[in-house]
Amino acid sequence: MVVLTTVSDREAYSNGCNPSLIEGLKQRRVKLAQLIKHPVILWSGNFIGRNFPANKLPFRASSHFLYFAGIPLHNAAIRLSAGELELFIDNQTPETTLWHGAAPDREEIGAMIGAERTYPLADLASKTTGAATIALQDLATYQQQCQLLNRPVALSHQAANLDLELAQALVKLRSRHDDLALQELRFAAAVSVKAHQAGMKVTKNVTTEAEIRGAMEGVIIAHNLTCAYNSIVTVQGEVLHNESYHHQLQPGDLLLADVGAETANGWAADITRTWPVSGKFSSTQKDIYEVVLQAHDDCIAKLQPGVEYQDIHLLAALVIATGLVDLGILQGKPEDLVAIDAHALFFPHGVGHLLGLDVHDMEDLGDVAGYELGRSRSDRFGLGYLRLNRPLQSGMLVTIEPGFYQVPAILNDANFRHKYQDVVNWERLTQFADVRGIRIEDDVLITESGVEVLTAELPTKIEEIESLVS
Ligand code: GLY
Ligand code: MN
Repeated sequence: MVVLTTVSDREAYSNGCNPSLIEGLKQRRVKLAQLIKHPVILWSGNFIGRNFPANKLPFRASSHFLYFAGIPLHNAAIRLSAGELELFIDNQTPETTLWHGAAPDREEIGAMIGAERTYPLADLASKTTGAATIALQDLATYQQQCQLLNRPVALSHQAANLDLELAQALVKLRSRHDDLALQELRFAAAVSVKAHQAGMKVTKNVTTEAEIRGAMEGVIIAHNLTCAYNSIVTVQGEVLHNESYHHQLQPGDLLLADVGAETANGWAADITRTWPVSGKFSSTQKDIYEVVLQAHDDCIAKLQPGVEYQDIHLLAALVIATGLVDLGILQGKPEDLVAIDAHALFFPHGVGHLLGLDVHDMEDLGDVAGYELGRSRSDRFGLGYLRLNRPLQSGMLVTIEPGFYQVPAILNDANFRHKYQDVVNWERLTQFADVRGIRIEDDVLITESGVEVLTAELPTKIEEIESLVS
């Protein structure tokens, strides 16, 4: 395997200092200081032991921490104020060094990330007054946050409005990627493309989903990266986030693989492709695949600064409705079908989401990141799962991932059957029984003049997919 490398990846992990990392992190905290006057404290989180402390569950530092600290420290906090960064972390104990090897000390870590000052973790207690923070998912750190700040930490809590102010500032910064971020995101995308190519190529030689997953994640692991989310590698593509891998592959199956890498510093990719296990799409699979691909291509062609992401979602809905009318599955005028959410019977999720340090970037902030101030989720069947409803800006990275699924819980639902009885040709639909789920997903950077598809190297066209699989 030819292993890709990036400069940022190699340098951030050497003990030396990487001037571009230090400068990039400095710029981020200076920009934060322009948006928020309070001090900000961000915790990294800490390891959780499985059954004894040294048998650790996989650790992932908090993304807000990573954004300003740059590297995945654990049991650390940073205090950001007036554009300066103070690092709070303890030196490793001799016992930890015995079991896990030597690590840089506090001063060395501080130098690596360009900290203005460094302190032992215990010193943080005296520097928390008036600080804003963001709640961590891990309970132990969350309790520490509340205890040290001496207040509940929550975006919605009355007493914690400064946390909401911080969340809004973080969204402003993190939703438009800088060069430091883009370098990492491109690397995650490139490795993920290779993982998908490996998955397609191995399919003819294996008999289970698990083996394809192994080949795909093997590429990610061989680059010393991790998965940005639990891989979806399934012949049951109608289960949107299927995380089981035990099925045998059958010749007529479609394999849906939604697999993305995460760089060592936490930056994600998110790619989905769907391919025929046999190497050849059936004619019905081709028909539906072309509809989804049309939606994918039309949406990407419309992306540019200023465009409303919800309009992109509705465009995907319209293209899918049009395609399904042409195939005789839906009946009526496509615009009218979208207005009553008939497309959502087959495309029940949003067309995509923000991508960055997390695969659904900043969704720990609820809809503060995804939804423009003053907007909230629709309760419409066809819009409720839309995760992003903002005008696009250059520097944003979004996924475009239309799909078609035959979800039994939707298609057999008595209320839906009744509501959509006149617009679905249920008999015609039975002819497409070999299409359980198709999704095509790419990662698209909004630029000043349009877009750059970071995952464009991975084909989407039927003939190219067939040739890779065969
Ligand atoms: N990659 C999974 C998702 O976007 O939900
Ligand atoms: Mn996605």
